[in-house]
Amino acid sequence: MTSFSEANSAHVVAESFADTPDGRLKRVLTSLVEHLHDFVKDVELTEAEWQRAIDFLTATGHACDDTRQEFVLLSDVLGVSMLVDAINHRTSSAATDTTVLGPYHMVDSPPRELGATISLDGNGEPCVFAGQVRSSAGGPLPGAQVDVWQANGAGYYDVQQPGVQPDRNLRGLFTTDELGRFWLRTVVPRYYPIPDDGPVGGLLAATRRHPNRPAHIHVIAGADGHAPLTTHVFVEGSPYLDSDTVFGVKESLIRPVTEVDDPDRAARYGVANPFRLIEFDVVLDRRDG
Ligand code: BEZ
Ligand code: FE
Repeated sequence: MTSFSEANSAHVVAESFADTPDGRLKRVLTSLVEHLHDFVKDVELTEAEWQRAIDFLTATGHACDDTRQEFVLLSDVLGVSMLVDAINHRTSSAATDTTVLGPYHMVDSPPRELGATISLDGNGEPCVFAGQVRSSAGGPLPGAQVDVWQANGAGYYDVQQPGVQPDRNLRGLFTTDELGRFWLRTVVPRYYPIPDDGPVGGLLAATRRHPNRPAHIHVIAGADGHAPLTTHVFVEGSPYLDSDTVFGVKESLIRPVTEVDDPDRAARYGVANPFRLIEFDVVLDRRDG
């Protein structure tokens, strides 16, 4: 084994992985060590800073439990989650843009009938959410699954307020009709802060960053023969659209909340006229496309 020096540090450690049977693991570890050593050399890390980093990562681990994943939050605020999403979902230009899954899809959404309400606590301004699922190869996708979840009008998910919000509040799994359409009743979501009372919140405060995400509804859409797609629709005019703390916003995903005065449409959606509407069509790529 070559002896360790500042100049050859990454090479020496990379050599130690020479017998790794899993080729992918070997490549990932080697690259990780090369970049990590480059970084340590670039900033000339002090021993106090090294200890601070160890303490920060230890606290990050301690902040994790069954309902909170502080490491995912760290990945989110460093833009790594969005980068992994971008690398792994190089969809066609016709397909809907993807964005980060987030930590609140931790329970299954209950199947609901088209037109049902997902707002079980009524907290927020009533609104219809409707759209069509289509294939980038052309044509609507009947029988597609549309999984929807969001925060309430106060900016909290059901899983953040057990015993306060009803179980499975603001979640629903819908199946599109013969024209690929879906529609449901909900409330206009509100912007909200990601959990900021842990080490990641400390990092945001130290760097003078706010912890907020703009108002959005999460969507996972899937259909036979098509690649599933995870995305959000963002509410036009929401605060923080231009500074989402997890870098999730894409222009193509922003939609207005429109005021609709149309008794026929109101009757079709089963709501009183006039009503608020967010429309969001989803285009999926074929699996082989
Ligand atoms: C969310 O949209 O639910 C979310 C995404 C990343 C971090 C925290 C929350
Ligand atoms: Fe969210």
